[in-house]
Amino acid sequence: MNSEPLYEGKAKSVYRSEEAGELVVRFRDDITAFDGEKKDVLPGKGVFNAVVSAFFFTYLEKRGIATHFIRMVNERTMIVKELAMVPLEVIVRNRAAGSIVRRYPFSEGQVLDPPVVVMDFKDDTRHDPMINDDIIVALGLLTREEIAAIRTRALEINRLLSEYFREQGITLVDFKIEFGKREGSIVLGDEISMDSMRLWDMETGESLDKDVYRFDKGDVLSAYERVVQRIIPGYFGGKE
Ligand SMILES: Nc1ncnc2c1ncn2[C@@H]1O[C@H](COP(=O)(O)OP(=O)(O)OP(=O)(O)O)[C@@H](O)[C@H]1O
Ligand SMILES: [Mg+2]
Repeated sequence: MNSEPLYEGKAKSVYRSEEAGELVVRFRDDITAFDGEKKDVLPGKGVFNAVVSAFFFTYLEKRGIATHFIRMVNERTMIVKELAMVPLEVIVRNRAAGSIVRRYPFSEGQVLDPPVVVMDFKDDTRHDPMINDDIIVALGLLTREEIAAIRTRALEINRLLSEYFREQGITLVDFKIEFGKREGSIVLGDEISMDSMRLWDMETGESLDKDVYRFDKGDVLSAYERVVQRIIPGYFGGKE
């Protein structure tokens, strides 16, 4: 783990593990937006994202969703199963916000019922263009059956996460997940964090996610910390 990272992304570093078939994922304090045009370092941010990701991977796994998560080695580092990642961003939207409002005539906050699933091709140099089933098949990324399975899985994850957030007084507006393959089956990978979800406080409508950073809406770290406080009771030892 002291060796060179296998892969250095914009917010996480991935290292080889001593154990075959496992990887070490370290959540860094870097935060970026707008294809990396805006970037900063927020000390402690990686810890908040790592603990929330670990919490939700465990939560989903208990409810029958296969995830890559194995265990935490420290508060910002997790051991995961190595996956052959599918280069797609699977986005589930319960309310219209962000790019879907810029691109289509939805109003900000409009309820999307049933939820809308969108897939983007994960390629920063091409600005992650939206993709469709025919293109996914033509590129050889997935079969039609696999696309259908991912869509069903994403909606089930949405149901489970939305329910949990609702109980904490938070609306899960939308989120992005990534899947990979392992021994022929589809497994949820990457992260589930305040960088990858849009979360609105049900009472105040305040953003509790990366939009605070994108649009300079206030103190990003304190927003992330409040999510940890509300999502993982006892994480801060009971002190508020
Ligand atoms: N279980 C896994 N096995 C293999 N690769 C994984 C696994 N989970 C996540 N990854 C990959 O590790 C990388 C994590 O890095 P990070 O999220 O910082 O960067 P990125 O996704 O390349 O860029 P972006 O900042 O656009 O998300 C991603 O490429 C992600 O697809
Ligand atoms: Mg990423």
